[in-house]
Amino acid sequence: MQKFPIVVLISGNGSNLQALIDDAKISKKYQIKAVISSNPEALGLSRAKRENIKTYCIDHRQFAQRTDFDRALLNAIKENNPELIVLAGFMRKLGPEIVGHFANKMINIHPSLLPKFPGLNTHQKAIAAGETEHGCSIHFVTTELDAGPILAQARTATTPNAAELRQKVQELEHKLLPLVVRWFANRQVLLQKGIIYLDGQALPIQGFCAFLKKS
Ligand code: GRF
Repeated sequence: MQKFPIVVLISGNGSNLQALIDDAKISKKYQIKAVISSNPEALGLSRAKRENIKTYCIDHRQFAQRTDFDRALLNAIKENNPELIVLAGFMRKLGPEIVGHFANKMINIHPSLLPKFPGLNTHQKAIAAGETEHGCSIHFVTTELDAGPILAQARTATTPNAAELRQKVQELEHKLLPLVVRWFANRQVLLQKGIIYLDGQALPIQGFCAFLKKS
């Protein structure tokens, strides 16, 4: 049987990509058809090549207009017919055409408990704000940065050291992302009128939560 096809978009290290590569082998539920990087130096590209996964580098600096970059990205994704596109450390904001084209099929992992701390430097921001808990979120991609409907979150206690906190959150990311991709592969997720249903049950506004709590 054909496995559920996904495409992963990256810009850097690719540790979340690695978590998906490893989980795809164990779960046998989905197949990473291609990895697309906006950065030619991304370590994630070597992780993909090592597994004989098709790679593309679409360097945003080679495009005069953002719409041209988006069009090249759209074409590369379409070549692989994915049912799900996973943004895993992809550092470019996407325009309305590409987001609209893959509506309900594109998810992003973000290192904060959204809607708190969209954007960059989330760990430092959580510490500075005196948060006692921090974590990661997986949400559908919309044209507004880090603001789409939230599928799932995982939380952990905040530590005063940002590097340590980042490490703790990444450990959660590596568990949460494969889990959510399995939901899609099992066709457990439905997004309708802004409400996410998991196994037919409407999720609360901040997604399926807290099951990976880690002290
Ligand atoms: C992760 O923390 C993810 O939440 C954010 O970018 C980081 C990517 O890390 N969007 P990696 O490249 O998967 O190691």
